[in-house]
Amino acid sequence: MSLDLVVVGLGYVGLPLAQEACRVSLAVAGLDLSARVVDGLNDGRSHVGDLSDEDVSRMLGAGFRATTDPAVIAEAHTVVICVPTPLSADGGPDLSAVRSAVATVAAHLRPGMLVILESTTYPGTTEEEVLPLLQAGGLRVGEDFYLAFSPERVDPGNTEFGIRNTPKVVGGVDEASTTVAAAFYGKFVDSVVTARGSREAEMAKLLENTYRHINIALVNEMAQFCRELDIDLWDVIRCASTKPFGFQAFYPGPGVGGHCIPIDPNYLSYQVRAKLGYPFRFVELAQEINNSMPAYVVQRVQELLNEDSKPLRGAEVLLLGVTYKADIADQRQSPAEPLARQLLSRGARVSYHDPYVPVWQPGDEVLTRVADLDAALAGADLVVLLQTHGSYTPADIADKSRRILDTRGTLAGAGVERL
Ligand SMILES: NC(=O)c1ccc[n+]([C@@H]2O[C@H](COP(=O)([O-])OP(=O)(O)OC[C@H]3O[C@@H](n4cnc5c(N)ncnc54)[C@H](O)[C@@H]3O)[C@@H](O)[C@H]2O)c1
Repeated sequence: MSLDLVVVGLGYVGLPLAQEACRVSLAVAGLDLSARVVDGLNDGRSHVGDLSDEDVSRMLGAGFRATTDPAVIAEAHTVVICVPTPLSADGGPDLSAVRSAVATVAAHLRPGMLVILESTTYPGTTEEEVLPLLQAGGLRVGEDFYLAFSPERVDPGNTEFGIRNTPKVVGGVDEASTTVAAAFYGKFVDSVVTARGSREAEMAKLLENTYRHINIALVNEMAQFCRELDIDLWDVIRCASTKPFGFQAFYPGPGVGGHCIPIDPNYLSYQVRAKLGYPFRFVELAQEINNSMPAYVVQRVQELLNEDSKPLRGAEVLLLGVTYKADIADQRQSPAEPLARQLLSRGARVSYHDPYVPVWQPGDEVLTRVADLDAALAGADLVVLLQTHGSYTPADIADKSRRILDTRGTLAGAGVERL
């Protein structure tokens, strides 16, 4: 076994992991189904926002190579699986990529190997889905090979916390697996936290994301009635945040987006319903509230235009920031999309600006970013601030627009209305 690590799935999760392992001089290779991804990486091109082309070149310089050949697995001491787990049509996790990746690993499993699943999934997957496939060839876990789950917790775009300084939770399907997996991550992560088992590690990830989902829903619901009560919720949160214990600030917005928050809690509510027959009420309520936010913003747009005696049909509405969070290029599950679709379907003339998105297709129409932001701000009947990217100057936006709906609570001025 000549490689320390083979990462299976070289996307947002797998590639940064491979990078971190390269940094401490581990011998690393990556396996991906996509020839486009593999060829791009071997040519020094990054397809992931958090890594630049220079980062990939440095990895190649450290000996990294990407391949579509599954035989590479047989060379590995450790295999980490980072393949997608999208939602299936019935609302549960679609484990087909995990099953196919595990089958590939099983075909090349060697004595002494450590296999780790990092894909987000429902609790029990590592034991119930991954373990039987790996043991089918006759090797036994804890004796011949090791198996653990470790959630990926990195916050895209966060320049303070990355893989190295975010504590890594690890849970093996047995004690020996936990120990071996913790020792592996200890080579390039400052702090490793061992869970009681793989189920606890799987559930820890879902608790973290469900917690965010629910607390965002809480402030989104409060934003709606605080406005009617004429209470500034952002000021309320500012005051509450001064409590040095027992409170964590969450902020309202136009809905939740990204690959984790809108999706992961579904895995849990799906499993509770499927296995136990009852709903996970907090998650279902949070989903209902967060999913309704784009429609709430559209309703507010309509009300503000109405105050100016303008119908939504034919109104020039400029959306600012269409990615799912500030200062990253990722548009997956962005609430800006359903919002734009609803505005377009009601006849609004929608334009947008986002420093990270030159071309955007929220519905059938392909939109091109406005070329002159100042002119677009001045010309719009209503500007809707969805994402406060760092390159936006709040005072400038407020000054140059006639009327603004600020969904982030960052602007002040005569024409500014908060969510
Ligand atoms: N993106 C995030 O911020 C994030 C954060 C935490 C957890 N996760 C979880 O990590 C997992 C991976 O997510 P991602 O965002 O990196 O996905 P991604 O789509 O960016 O990348 C996945 C890669 O896996 C490859 N792939 C698919 N099936 C494969 C197979 N059988 N063998 C080899 N390669 C295969 C794809 O070609 C793709 O390049 C998911 O379970 C996700 O929920 C993602």
